Amino acid sequence: MNDIPELSLQNVRIANPEHVTEVIQNMIRDGQNKLQVVADFDRTLSKYTHRGQICSTCHNVLEEGHVLPEFYKDEARALRDHYFPIEMNPKLTIEEKIPVMVEWWTKAHDLLSKCHITKDDVRIMVENSTARLRDGCTWFFDQLQATDIPLLIFSAGIGDVIIEVIKHQATLHDNMKVVSNYLEYDDQGKMTGFQDEMIHVYNKNEGAIHDSDYFQKLEQRNNVILMGDSLGDLHMADRGVQNKLKIGFLNVKVEESLELYMKKYDIVILEDETLNVVNAILRKVL
Ligand code: C5P
Repeated sequence: MNDIPELSLQNVRIANPEHVTEVIQNMIRDGQNKLQVVADFDRTLSKYTHRGQICSTCHNVLEEGHVLPEFYKDEARALRDHYFPIEMNPKLTIEEKIPVMVEWWTKAHDLLSKCHITKDDVRIMVENSTARLRDGCTWFFDQLQATDIPLLIFSAGIGDVIIEVIKHQATLHDNMKVVSNYLEYDDQGKMTGFQDEMIHVYNKNEGAIHDSDYFQKLEQRNNVILMGDSLGDLHMADRGVQNKLKIGFLNVKVEESLELYMKKYDIVILEDETLNVVNAILRKVL
């Protein structure tokens, strides 16, 4: 661990340094052909704050600018004011939160479906939004592409928005797969609803990707770097893994949540706008 000075920074917390050292050493030994990366999007690959100002999540993007009507923005904000504190409440269990999250996503998706936006609207909203990839994200994406390491972005946000953010602020490479909630459009290109089953913050261990052959195809890549900002993200890659390095970004309610995050994540990064720590580990492993 001494070889990676970023791991000793004041805002980087590690409960079990021996374990982290061992996992990183195993990853170095096994090399790039054994590695895959699974990352959440909002507040993990994207920033929570940019120069101190709170940035948009995928959903927030739709509330910025002048594309969507005021009734949408008001109702979407009211929903978030009610449900976000429940999502982040460290005193509730995941089991207690799941039905409440399903309720939030259902109401938010129904609300958006009333607005019949187009693909162009999504692009325009993203271009004018405050959604920001973390500093170092371009290097991270380019390096994974250059070394042929698959990157799964697994998000409970909106796939169409994520794709536009990445295309606008970095490059969407062909080693990257974005599994998320995608909009469905009619023949006129107007949004009518969402495709497939809903992905919310706490069902990332089931459905969508796990029913497909994504992880089966990558079976020989049994070293995983997992990056998330919520406790639900911990279950994004539960199958067939030998060495897993779980890196958690703790952006809000730091004091209340730190102890729990340090129990669940191998490395916890506090209030950071960059991917510097992850990139430093990658530089060592690759
Ligand atoms: O990419 P990730 O899985 O983190 O995206 C989900 C995030 O989007 C959640 O953390 C939630 O707070 C946020 N969200 C939102 N508005 C909604 C639904 C989810 O801001 N309607």
